[in-house]
Amino acid sequence: MISVEDVTKYYGETMAVDHLSFQAKPGLVTGFLGPNGSGKSTTMRVILDLDQANSGRATINGAHYRDLRFPLREVGALLDANAVSPKFTARTHLRALAASNQIPLSRVDEMLEFTGITSIATKKIADYSLGMRQRLGIAAALLGDPGVVLFDEPVNGLDPEGIRWFRGCLRSMADEGRTVLISLHLINELAQCADEVVVIGKG
Ligand SMILES: Nc1ncnc2c1ncn2[C@@H]1O[C@H](COP(=O)(O)OP(=O)(O)OP(=O)(O)O)[C@@H](O)[C@H]1O
Ligand SMILES: [Mg+2]
Repeated sequence: MISVEDVTKYYGETMAVDHLSFQAKPGLVTGFLGPNGSGKSTTMRVILDLDQANSGRATINGAHYRDLRFPLREVGALLDANAVSPKFTARTHLRALAASNQIPLSRVDEMLEFTGITSIATKKIADYSLGMRQRLGIAAALLGDPGVVLFDEPVNGLDPEGIRWFRGCLRSMADEGRTVLISLHLINELAQCADEVVVIGKG
């Protein structure tokens, strides 16, 4: 369960999120819909404690992100597929994440296989296409087998086959009882994958 309670976030004078409240529940794909600049990414960053809210609070299974002992085992996220060191390979990146959260290293190869990037796993991330980085980001998000997952516009770089595969992924994650929050721009894309929708205007 993700719970956003009356969250407000300013960047200087700019109000990015305006008293926003919603819940994303286990077993459902919750779509997060809104135009550019409406505050979707900001809300996700607040949930993940990458940004501090000015007021209100966001919790994951009742706890603040910062209080989770092994965060990757409770919540997985893909916010920015390019936010990985280009010097690493997919395998070294995932192994480092696994080690830091006491996740068995066997999960790394499982997730490489699951996301279809085993064949490039020993190449430098610098040489990956956006779609490959997104697959790596999905692998990283699922590495700790978390009960809660957040994806910020994850399908931008995926090819049609990748999009179909990812939709199937979302459905099975929800069917396994996970809480899934996904932001998208396109309402028809949401209609194909979301059980509930949170719509945000200007914050
Ligand atoms: N680091 C930042 N510094 C200053 N302003 C920011 C920062 N991040 C976001 N903003 C502002 O906050 C508002 C919300 O931005 P946000 O990125 O959360 O929107 P979004 O819904 O994710 O948009 P998009 O659909 O384009 O990804 C915008 O007005 C944006 O300019
Ligand atoms: Mg965004």
